[in-house]
Amino acid sequence: MKPWKVVCLVLFALAVAVAGYGLILVRHGFSALATPSAVEELAATTARKLAVPSAYRQLRNPITPSTENIRGGMEHFAYHCSPCHSNDGSGHTVFGRGFYPKPPDLRAAATQNKSDGELYYTIDNGVRLSGMPAFSGTHTVPQTWRLVLFIRYLPQITPEELNEMKGWDPKSDADPAHF
Ligand code: HEC
Repeated sequence: MKPWKVVCLVLFALAVAVAGYGLILVRHGFSALATPSAVEELAATTARKLAVPSAYRQLRNPITPSTENIRGGMEHFAYHCSPCHSNDGSGHTVFGRGFYPKPPDLRAAATQNKSDGELYYTIDNGVRLSGMPAFSGTHTVPQTWRLVLFIRYLPQITPEELNEMKGWDPKSDADPAHF
């Protein structure tokens, strides 16, 4: 067989495979409750990575990890972030469970291995086509860096601190729109 014929055949087979996969996707629908396929997951994580400019990726947290600064981030997180991420960062909340992409477990390696700058950029700009809002309009630069400090602290948070955070959570009836 001529080489160009082989190329055509391979391209044709690929087109059929992609069309088939697309058909399956459309048939199944796109519920946010379903677990995404490996292909979908790879596409989403790659797009996420490309979305953070390299200048940000190299940024280091300029705020010292003092108890006071971590507590500042903790208080802020309980008020603004816990409705989706929960105080312990697990993402097990009513909102969190209903999202796709879901809020990841912020204590896990996938988040902790991200650089300070990547976390900062995500909080500042949000994540497009997801439930993660951009906070640059409402948060000062030091507030955002304190949140990054707190995310780093999450894996070692104590039950006493989690209990204290409950007191800072937004009270849904009294203050519904404020996170
Ligand atoms: C309305 C729901 C919602 C709120 C409020 C929210 N987030 Fe998120 N967050 C998400 C979702 C959904 C994702 C997953 C986005 C994705 O992976 O595409 C996410 C992702 C993130 C990530 C990326 C983690 C990773 O490993 O990539 C960080 C960091 C984060 N959020 C921090 C925060 C902080 C800090 C706040 C509060 C200032 C906050 N979020 C408030 C829904 C929310």
